[in-house]
Amino acid sequence: MEEMKKFPNVFEEKKGRNIFYFIRTNDKKSFFEERVISKKGELFREVDPERSKLFASIAKGISQLGIKQDSKVLYLGASHGYTVSFLADVVCNGEIYALDFAPRVVRDLVFLCEDKKNVAPILDDANHPENYKDVVPKVDVVFMDIAQREQTKIFLKNCDMYLKEGGFGILALKARSIDVTRNPKDIFRITRSQLDVVMNVVDYRELAPFEQDHAVFVCKRKSSEPIDFLNIPSIVVDQKKNFLPRKEFSKPSFRKRH
Ligand SMILES: C[S@@+](CC[C@H](N)C(=O)[O-])C[C@H]1O[C@@H](n2cnc3c(N)ncnc32)[C@H](O)[C@@H]1O
Repeated sequence: MEEMKKFPNVFEEKKGRNIFYFIRTNDKKSFFEERVISKKGELFREVDPERSKLFASIAKGISQLGIKQDSKVLYLGASHGYTVSFLADVVCNGEIYALDFAPRVVRDLVFLCEDKKNVAPILDDANHPENYKDVVPKVDVVFMDIAQREQTKIFLKNCDMYLKEGGFGILALKARSIDVTRNPKDIFRITRSQLDVVMNVVDYRELAPFEQDHAVFVCKRKSSEPIDFLNIPSIVVDQKKNFLPRKEFSKPSFRKRH
């Protein structure tokens, strides 16, 4: 088993054609029925990339995530805390602000936080980042996995408010939440052009076969200036079901093809 140089506390083990991923932990406990193994006096929890877009992006070879052991992370769409539980071990000297708007799952998060002391559960709507300004500080990483139609704008609103200059924004995008009838590649292309206006997209991976029709975008803030949302093209769907950006994009490669 070898530690992945670019991702602290993340280890990979190659067995034949299979690769298994493990996260170094201090917990003997299995939180989601995952394997916990001991090697050379250290403990490791096995993470399944089919259950986590963050770890699927690592399995797909993402070059950087900007996550360090002492990072502060705002995690939007925490659900029951599967990925959060592993991320808490990755950022073992950092903090996670784990938010979801569904009370049932936040209840599970509260239980998780009894063991993972560096996670703070928040019951709120990611579409209203002003609601949690009293509990969330400026962070090194904003991660979002909420599967909503307006997820890119919601992501940028949170980056605008909480991401430090030089911090990383990571967007896990579910194409079919934006439009179930469209080719996911079109949606990824237009999403990227939205992000490009205000962020430097430093890497991007489609997540199949771990998650069909999903992609992860890793971005860095271009500047600490407030984001001018009027400059960001919206995705609109015309009556023939063609995606049309409302504005022309600065990058020709992302202009709508006629
Ligand atoms: C796909 S699940 C997230 C899975 C989780 N990231 C993981 O890897 O374990 C999406 C979650 O986003 C939450 N969600 C959707 N829209 C939201 C919003 N506007 N604000 C907060 N949470 C939201 C849902 O309640 C759901 O729990």
